[in-house]
Amino acid sequence: MDATIVILDGDGIGPEVTAEAKKVLAAVAGRFGHDFVFDHQQIGGRSIDELGTSLPDETVEAASAAEAVLLGAVGGPKWDDPSLSDRPEQGVLALRKSLDLFANLRPVKLQPQLLSASTIKEETLEGVDLLVVRELTGGIYFGERKEPEDNFEAFDTMLYTRPEIDRVVRLAADSAMDRNRRLASVDKANVLASSRLWRSVATEALADYPELEVEHILVDAMAMHLIRRPADFDVVVAGNLFGDILTDEASMLAGSMGMLPSASLGDVSNRHDLPLGLYEPIHGSAPDIAGRGIANPLAAILSSAMLLRHSLGLEKEAEAVEAAVDAILDLGVRTPDIAQPGTETAGTEVLGNLVVQELSDS
Ligand code: IPM
Ligand code: MG
Repeated sequence: MDATIVILDGDGIGPEVTAEAKKVLAAVAGRFGHDFVFDHQQIGGRSIDELGTSLPDETVEAASAAEAVLLGAVGGPKWDDPSLSDRPEQGVLALRKSLDLFANLRPVKLQPQLLSASTIKEETLEGVDLLVVRELTGGIYFGERKEPEDNFEAFDTMLYTRPEIDRVVRLAADSAMDRNRRLASVDKANVLASSRLWRSVATEALADYPELEVEHILVDAMAMHLIRRPADFDVVVAGNLFGDILTDEASMLAGSMGMLPSASLGDVSNRHDLPLGLYEPIHGSAPDIAGRGIANPLAAILSSAMLLRHSLGLEKEAEAVEAAVDAILDLGVRTPDIAQPGTETAGTEVLGNLVVQELSDS
């Protein structure tokens, strides 16, 4: 298959981890006989510095024309000044919005080799394998807001419409049908009007899925249940802000943020009639370790596996990448974030090279 993949390095550790994911994609192309063209474009803080905007038009055009987009991470202390009119994060938000990537899939699967890397008790973590589907183009991220110009008053608006809720809940329900047929819908219906709409639309939509075991859970309780009984969850669907917060929490179930990939999908198809997708690790740009070559590239590499699966329809290839990551963890080589007693600590490039080698050998 031929495919164009846009690569957006971004800031901080972004370029370091996407470089490894790109190597892995190139190795997949070599081994399975595909032709991937990599198109590097700009986004985020560096783009503000060099091009005067966090999201250049060329990036949106390239992304729309591509099969898929692989993103590192954006942001850093250099661009944290609240008085700036453009911020690195706005680039990512605007890209998600302009491609209408309304569903953000964040699988949280504990690799058994990392059981003791988590701060949570092993017996609680046993069997954790969940998929969070986060609504990505609506809610409080995109509602009307007032900036704190007067340093006195500011607001954000959490607005949801029926179609926005319906489509993401149905996508989550379809995913649950392919998995363990359990779905938890998260809201704050005891307080927020937008959550009462969420619950009523979700309830209606889920009536079409009688095979699913459904629960509606308030977000505060969900934060607790994720730590108390994480293995009970299969698919979790949540609005934009709740999904953002819960997935950082859930990442600790997998040992490290450095392990978690994500896929953002919408209704837009690519040339191959598969969903155009944006693939990114859920971690940030980690300015504290940027440039040191110690960032964990596995979340980016696992994001490239999701890219192969969802936007290129290459299931066998995606599984090969996941198996290679598994084999590297078996070898006992770890970046510092997942280091454990008795394992060998290695840097970003070494891990990426090992995955590539594993792919070529197996
Ligand atoms: C994420 C990040 C982003 C978000 C930021 C960088 C805008 O936290 O992808 O989870 O809040 O969506
Ligand atoms: Mg986040």
